[in-house]
Amino acid sequence: MKKLNLENINECLELLNSSSPLDFEFVSLNVEDTKVLGYSFAKYITPAMVITLNGELGSGKTVFLTGLASYFNAQDQVSSPTFTIVNEYDIGKDFPLFHFDVYRIENSDEFLEGVGTDYFENGACIIEWGDEIIPDILPKNTIHIDITKDEKNVSKRIFKIWRK
Ligand SMILES: Nc1ncnc2c1ncn2[C@@H]1O[C@H](COP(=O)(O)OP(=O)(O)OP(=O)(O)O)[C@@H](O)[C@H]1O
Ligand SMILES: [Mg+2]
Repeated sequence: MKKLNLENINECLELLNSSSPLDFEFVSLNVEDTKVLGYSFAKYITPAMVITLNGELGSGKTVFLTGLASYFNAQDQVSSPTFTIVNEYDIGKDFPLFHFDVYRIENSDEFLEGVGTDYFENGACIIEWGDEIIPDILPKNTIHIDITKDEKNVSKRIFKIWRK
């Protein structure tokens, strides 16, 4: 596991654009840190990238995404797609960013019936609750971001970024 910090974050996240396994950890001490992580991550987004955001309610999945979207000046488009399952953001590139929140979906079958995996080939996809609800249909090279809260410090979050 490699610790990410504000000094090495860019050289480390460059590896997102390879096919190598990833195992990073980033400690966020406040909302701003989480946004910086999202912003830095955004530089390496490519079409057909699938990213899952995993972590309990209020862990910071949407905050991360807001930071990420701000790199594309698309932060105003970000909302929690709780009732729509998927929102499409124009990020000023030749591919869109699809933001999913699959919390209200039961399982992969329901996802395949109601939404489908065509999105995975038609833009970059970020899926809140992906590992929890649809783990069996995620592409092999999915990038996983697991967020955990700290028991003592209410504004601390640990981000694990990994790929098999
Ligand atoms: N270090 C931190 N990083 C991110 N958010 C933080 C941090 N510290 C405190 N917070 C607070 O935690 C909350 C995170 O909310 P957010 O909507 O991003 O969670 P979420 O994981 O998307 O939840 P949900 O599953 O309900 O969609 C915000 O209220 C934010 O202010
Ligand atoms: Mg959210």
